[in-house]
Amino acid sequence: MKIGNVAVLGAGTMGHGIAELAALASWEVTLCDISDELLGKALEAIKESLATTERCPDDCATVMQRIKCVISIRDAVGSAGLVIECLPEDLELKQKVFRELDRLCAPDVILATNTSGLSPTIIARGLEHPERVVVAHFWNPPQLIPLVEVVPGERTSGEVVDRTMEWVKALGKKPVRMKKECPGFIGNRLQLALLREALYIVEQGYADIEEVDKSITYGHGRRLPVTGPFCSADMGGLDVFHRISAYLFTELSNATKPSGLMQKIVEGGNLGLKSGKGFYDWTPEMKEKMMRLRTETLMEFLEKDRRDD
Ligand SMILES: NC(=O)c1ccc[n+]([C@@H]2O[C@H](COP(=O)([O-])OP(=O)(O)OC[C@H]3O[C@@H](n4cnc5c(N)ncnc54)[C@H](O)[C@@H]3O)[C@@H](O)[C@H]2O)c1
Repeated sequence: MKIGNVAVLGAGTMGHGIAELAALASWEVTLCDISDELLGKALEAIKESLATTERCPDDCATVMQRIKCVISIRDAVGSAGLVIECLPEDLELKQKVFRELDRLCAPDVILATNTSGLSPTIIARGLEHPERVVVAHFWNPPQLIPLVEVVPGERTSGEVVDRTMEWVKALGKKPVRMKKECPGFIGNRLQLALLREALYIVEQGYADIEEVDKSITYGHGRRLPVTGPFCSADMGGLDVFHRISAYLFTELSNATKPSGLMQKIVEGGNLGLKSGKGFYDWTPEMKEKMMRLRTETLMEFLEKDRRDD
């Protein structure tokens, strides 16, 4: 395909995973962060991920050789045909870096951002070539989640969206193309709508946290990997879903602020798995079990995708 080398800016949670994907798909990659120490950690994480997911048991060294580490953005983008920015979610930082990229890169170089929800229009504001700025929103962990949301800003060209879609497909991912931007794109809007209602059910005293989780894990969630909301509704019968909507929509949470329940837990310093306590107590055994279960299940899905493709 027509995209030359890939530059990944930021070697953190998302950046190192995207660098791994690009190198696995045979791209020459420059991975940029602010220190050799952080880049060293990123390379270790990539090696471990390659070994765990066993996607290149014989040839990890070849994949690793495709990744060059640099600590300057100028060096990172020298020969890049596509730059994917994975810096912290800070609008000012992203705008500053995109101004630099706009100066350094030829106009046909795609400047993609992995932002979770910042506006590509605002990130590209004031650039000489805003038509080459696009969101390519990978999901965490990018090695295991197929979805990448490709989102144009107001001035992004259709050709840049087409080429980004092509690149994402060539990485073995499943791109979803948005017609125009909106906060949260598609995936986070739906994820947060579900979380808002889950919190509401618990706050109203209708059911406990564990029961709400179970109802998704063993119910609706079982269908979701196969049928999204529209396909599910079609298969269930639109007359049925229409009638349920008529009496249930008025009952659902329409909260416009973050949940009080979650706020209280966060204010108590409990942030979930990373702090050892959140909605659940994350004992070392539970942490090990859930991390393993999640990785195993996501890998089974990936294998299935490969067989079906
Ligand atoms: N973590 C997630 O679950 C997730 C999922 C999807 C999208 N995102 C988005 O991806 C982006 C990156 O998130 P992350 O979780 O990987 O962040 P992170 O904090 O893990 O990594 C960011 C990296 O950028 C580096 N960095 C900071 N300033 C830099 C500079 N000037 N030049 C080079 N490197 C610099 C940091 O040292 C750090 O290693 C954010 O926009 C985030 O919203 C995150």
